Amino acid sequence: MKKIIVAIDGYSSCGKSTIAKALAKYAGYTYVDTGAMYRAIGLYTLRHNITDEASIIASLPSIEVGFILVDGTQHVTLNGEDVEPFIRTLEVGNCASRVSAIKEVRAFLVAQQQAMGKAKGIVMDGRDIGTVVFPNAELKLFLTASPEVRAQRRFDELVEKGEHPDYQAVLADVNDRDYRDTHRAESPLKQAEDAIVVDNSTLTREQQMEVIIGLFEKKLE
Ligand code: DC
Repeated sequence: MKKIIVAIDGYSSCGKSTIAKALAKYAGYTYVDTGAMYRAIGLYTLRHNITDEASIIASLPSIEVGFILVDGTQHVTLNGEDVEPFIRTLEVGNCASRVSAIKEVRAFLVAQQQAMGKAKGIVMDGRDIGTVVFPNAELKLFLTASPEVRAQRRFDELVEKGEHPDYQAVLADVNDRDYRDTHRAESPLKQAEDAIVVDNSTLTREQQMEVIIGLFEKKLE
């Protein structure tokens, strides 16, 4: 059966990874969460107290980012360590956002991401997948939702993890991150010209999946 590349881009906390994972499962494709790769590098800089750009670039040869499957779920690894339990905090998210603005960091991870898509049959989510990593992807989706809806989702996720977030702080963080993601010089988040926009502010997960599976099946025809 024909295999394609599905590129899913969009703002933080708009449900990209949930949709990407579900589509990969439906299609029997590999799912790659590129945000987790930037988060792993963000965690490395946090652990080693590295803040300046030159030192981050100099440490890249000592960093290996990979993926392993744990009980059927993809976990990101940093130099062989399963770091999935540590990368989903606001602090690591902010470090990830900072390191992701560095050209050399992006080149380092983009090369790895492109290699993962060589055999196609992949669903990859991130910010630059349809524009930079796979400009020729057969199906490009751009997911959006209002900042308030995304802040509420992130707030709920953090509560579920046992954290005690403040909603206004989470909303401010979502707005800051949007600004940084869309205004950085290197591969800013932007919709590819041929991407299909899915605004999921008012869609249930099932409704979104229906739309997206429909688009996917159409591409395979
Ligand atoms: O999707 P996420 O929140 O896990 O991403 C973490 C950070 O990494 C986010 O601020 C944007 C950045 N990122 C990126 O620049 N390019 C990608 N392909 C994926 C994530």
